[in-house]
Amino acid sequence: MKGEILKAARLIILSIWLMGLGSNAQLNSTFYASTCPNVSSIVSGVIQQALQSDARIGASLLRLHFHDCFVDGCDGSILLDNSGSIQSEKDAAPNTNSTRGFDVVDNIKTALENSCPGVVSCADILAIAAEASVSLAGGPTWNVLLGRRDSTTANQAGANTSIPGPSESLSSITSKFSAVGLSTTDLVALSGAHTFGRAQCRTFSNRLYNFNGTGNPDPTLDTTYLATLQQTCPQNGSGTTVSDLDPTTADTFDNNYYSNLQNNKGLLQSDQELFSTTGASTISIVNSFSSNSSSFFQNFAQSMINMGNISPLTGSSGEIRSDCKKVNGS
Ligand code: HEM
Ligand SMILES: *[C@@H]1O[C@H](CO)[C@@H](O)[C@H](O)[C@H]1NC(C)=O
Ligand SMILES: *[C@@H]1O[C@H](CO)[C@@H](O)[C@H](O)[C@H]1NC(C)=O
Ligand SMILES: *[C@@H]1O[C@H](CO)[C@@H](O)[C@H](O)[C@H]1NC(C)=O
Ligand SMILES: *[C@@H]1O[C@H](CO)[C@@H](O)[C@H](O)[C@H]1NC(C)=O
Ligand SMILES: *[C@@H]1O[C@H](CO)[C@@H](O)[C@H](O)[C@H]1NC(C)=O
Ligand SMILES: *[C@@H]1O[C@H](CO)[C@@H](O)[C@H](O)[C@H]1NC(C)=O
Ligand SMILES: *[C@@H]1O[C@H](CO)[C@@H](O)[C@H](O)[C@H]1NC(C)=O
Repeated sequence: MKGEILKAARLIILSIWLMGLGSNAQLNSTFYASTCPNVSSIVSGVIQQALQSDARIGASLLRLHFHDCFVDGCDGSILLDNSGSIQSEKDAAPNTNSTRGFDVVDNIKTALENSCPGVVSCADILAIAAEASVSLAGGPTWNVLLGRRDSTTANQAGANTSIPGPSESLSSITSKFSAVGLSTTDLVALSGAHTFGRAQCRTFSNRLYNFNGTGNPDPTLDTTYLATLQQTCPQNGSGTTVSDLDPTTADTFDNNYYSNLQNNKGLLQSDQELFSTTGASTISIVNSFSSNSSSFFQNFAQSMINMGNISPLTGSSGEIRSDCKKVNGS
């Protein structure tokens, strides 16, 4: 009996490994070395152009890669528009009236199709754009792993449930990271992305007046910062007004996010929880990234690679979309 189970287990492991050989090849940093050697500078060039008129665009592009990877892996699914067969992830709760930068992704795709037609996937564009955006804002650089292919489907329901929300508990957010193979260190490092970009009042106003039914603001919010946020987001005001995620250096990629948390100046509830949840293992990681910027940069780069490795389509799975918004031939 025991032997039979062992034999079956071996067979299963062998067949998973064989399937891996067929469709699950590893990404690598030289995937386009001969087919599109200039891909990084082309992507970076379009982003530099966009930054001239929109200081926030790098943050928006980084977030697109995150929201792509957390839903069925980094497969460009977030870029697909509604159509007969597609229920767009753009209309999912975490994305609607919130994700931005799709026009810049289209400009990048157009530039790449001009230089290397039919070669670079939309999923890889998001990964390359994320690195370029971070490095152009003063953050770390890393060798982006490439070779992802694009999905022919979207998963709006998955986007509704798999992407963490700003009022979720630390344990629930930790579970969502764990569900895609990311650790607590990855969670703390990647949350450092909130060192730039903006958030709308509707994503944190629950903290400002009547937190969790207490009739009072979130007690973990610094009172001076609270007063500023109440001015930006008055009760019954527009939920779409934006505030800087990092009140100290709004458009720079640095480790101030972590000292903000130590000073009770995390903007989102999900940010402050990393430091203010009693007994949480995230506290010491926040402290270490706050005191050592190079440690944060090193960990952020590694965690971006980890996130970028979430279930890519490789080999002959999926396709290289010629228009990021549409499945080929549709
Ligand atoms: C840990 C759980 C996370 C939660 C709950 C969360 C939630 C949010 C929310 C609510 C916003 C504001 C959206 C809006 O108001 O329209 C936001 C913005 C942003 N998020 Fe996150 N996020 C998380 C993790 C991440 C990760 C892992 C990254 C990337 C590595 C990231 C990158 C960003 C960036 C750059 C912005 C600013 C975007 C812009 O200005 O357009 N976030 N996030
Ligand atoms: C990168 O990956 C591709 C596809 O799996 C493969 O053809 C190529 O040989 C790899 N390059 C290196 C240097 O491993
Ligand atoms: C690569 O792109 C850069 C910037 O767009 C350009 O200056 C350079 O000439 C290109 N190199 C090649 C080999 O195409
Ligand atoms: C999104 O914004 C549009 C226009 O501002 C508005 O009509 C719509 O109700 C918003 N949708 C959501 C889900 O907030
Ligand atoms: C996802 O959430 C949005 C916004 O709450 C909702 O309109 C939509 O029906 C949901 N989609 C699915 C497939 O659950
Ligand atoms: C909100 O209130 C509920 C019930 O009163 C409590 O269990 C929960 O811990 C509170 N959440 C926060 C973030 O304070
Ligand atoms: C906000 O709107 C609610 C419901 O309409 C009202 O009871 C409350 O007085 C308003 N608060 C402010 C500060 O305007
Ligand atoms: C900061 O982090 C870097 C990179 O992990 C490490 O090499 C260095 O020793 C750390 N510095 C201090 C003062 O701990």
